[in-house]
Amino acid sequence: MKRPLIGTSWKMNMTASQAEAYCRALKPLLADVSDRTLFVLPPFTAIAAAREILAGSNISWGAQEVHPDEEGAHTGDISASMLADLGCTFVEVGHHERRRDYHEDDELIARKVDAIQRWGMTAILCVGESTRLEREQAVAYVLGQLRFLDRFDQGRLVVAYEPAWAIGSGAEPAGVDWVEWIHSAIHERVAGAAGGGVTAPVIYGGSVDLASAGDLVSCPGVDGLFVGRAALNPEVFSAIAHAPLWLPSRPE
Ligand code: PGA
Repeated sequence: MKRPLIGTSWKMNMTASQAEAYCRALKPLLADVSDRTLFVLPPFTAIAAAREILAGSNISWGAQEVHPDEEGAHTGDISASMLADLGCTFVEVGHHERRRDYHEDDELIARKVDAIQRWGMTAILCVGESTRLEREQAVAYVLGQLRFLDRFDQGRLVVAYEPAWAIGSGAEPAGVDWVEWIHSAIHERVAGAAGGGVTAPVIYGGSVDLASAGDLVSCPGVDGLFVGRAALNPEVFSAIAHAPLWLPSRPE
């Protein structure tokens, strides 16, 4: 059985003080979870506050973005070494909102994955079609976004399938049949690139909430959940993280 990975990106929410209160509330709520890997991705300004509270707990922390270069004249940007120094375990890249708002392409995103892995952290590479498509087209779109996969260290990679149409307020999570279909195609691609070696887990994100978490995390091919707005309440995130698995998940 894979160990499910359950995490949240807070996106552009929470000050450092609010993050501190959130982490103080979350830590005891998740203290009993030993069969899942848990993480939170605060905004850059709140990572140190999260570390302060979560150090030594079963909850990892990380970042939502990174610059691909090591250092230098990049006003306002944050390097992988800065994140590694803050004890980040996970760094997200390629989120739909970044691709949309900053026109990030797969080549740039791949360079960010390289930087994250160079610094010993795990990249969470988000993929997902930007509009509703037929299944075959959606698979082709997502596999296209994985065109640089072969050069990554899959031991330090998580693929997050997040169709844009399922993300954000007013949206609904993708159905389990759909998720199973796309995840199976991603797993096939990942296994092909791994050539018998370690394969990256594939997690689902997009309007995950308490009602959908159990079905989604139990869905074959789903190795975990990436939660957005529902996790802004620590009690709801805790309930999602405790969602029971009622189908055996994909064997390793
Ligand atoms: P959402 O965000 O859960 O608020 O839809 C998910 C995501 O963007 O990862």
